[in-house]
Amino acid sequence: MTEVNANKVGTLTLGEKTFSRLGYGAMQLPGKGVWGPSENPKNAVMVLQRAVELGVNFIDTADAYGPFTSNLLIRDAFAPYKGEYKNVFISTKVGFTRQGPDKWIPVGRPEYLRQEVEMNLRTLGVDSIDLLFLHRIDPKVSVADQIGELAKMQQEGKIKHIGLSQVSINQIQEASKYAKIEAVQNLYNVTNRKDENVLDYCETHQIIFVPWFPLATGALAKPGSVLDGLAKKYQASPSQIALAWLLKRSPVILPIPGTSNLDHLEQNVAATNVKLTDEDVKGINDLK
Ligand SMILES: NC(=O)c1ccc[n+]([C@@H]2O[C@H](COP(=O)([O-])OP(=O)(O)OC[C@H]3O[C@@H](n4cnc5c(N)ncnc54)[C@H](OP(=O)(O)O)[C@@H]3O)[C@@H](O)[C@H]2O)c1
Repeated sequence: MTEVNANKVGTLTLGEKTFSRLGYGAMQLPGKGVWGPSENPKNAVMVLQRAVELGVNFIDTADAYGPFTSNLLIRDAFAPYKGEYKNVFISTKVGFTRQGPDKWIPVGRPEYLRQEVEMNLRTLGVDSIDLLFLHRIDPKVSVADQIGELAKMQQEGKIKHIGLSQVSINQIQEASKYAKIEAVQNLYNVTNRKDENVLDYCETHQIIFVPWFPLATGALAKPGSVLDGLAKKYQASPSQIALAWLLKRSPVILPIPGTSNLDHLEQNVAATNVKLTDEDVKGINDLK
């Protein structure tokens, strides 16, 4: 049987920490609509620990997931981040408020961002956040004030690295006036490549690009399609092909497929065994 391990696709490094180029997104762990407690907290902790066992040590979360549900499960799974969990790298986010299931409203006032960083530290059980994304830029607050506050907390040692989520190239450039932007997390997958230009910018500037919703294949995976053909060729699922394509698309890409299911986790990590040829990649690139 082929071994399943995320380290087959190499690693990326930020500061003193190196992490797998295939991560895990913790957004599926809270209740429906990313709201409230997990339906099965014991299983959620097992999924997180199994991810690390499979070589996945980049774990993406946000205070807004639950709120706090995903962070608290991560703390249960890994704190005090020693032994087998000492290399776990956590990216979390600030900048969203929650009003109920599937409800998300950005708030970027500096005092709120600071509170969120403090609450992320406490709920994750860490002294410093490895990578902090501004979940959304709040259009009602200046970028200088939002990124400026994060830069202050970076100087205070509460945050190691700063990233942005759902941003344009102009926004990355503006935010870069106030802090070093080291990662971008945008919606990008085989069915939605609107942010191709942002990805290219990140590759040029050596910024890690974290595509969210990486497993989407939608109508592109219908029987007889290119994705369906490749899935048959590699005895894989269309989602595994979609992940393999992302991993080959750019060396700065770090997908974070999310699941609350142990079998699905293993299937997602097994996508690192699929080695697409340049011709396969071209076939997927040409899909509309
Ligand atoms: N920055 C942002 O604004 C933003 C927005 C959305 C998400 N994110 C992050 O990105 C991560 C991934 O995005 P996402 O959760 O939207 O999309 P995703 O990981 O592409 O897909 C997750 C969905 O696919 C299912 N799934 C996972 N593996 C599967 C498999 N092997 N077979 C069948 N179904 C499978 C999951 O359900 P099961 O639990 O049943 O497996 C879930 O419904 C999130 O966890 C979060 O960390 C960030």
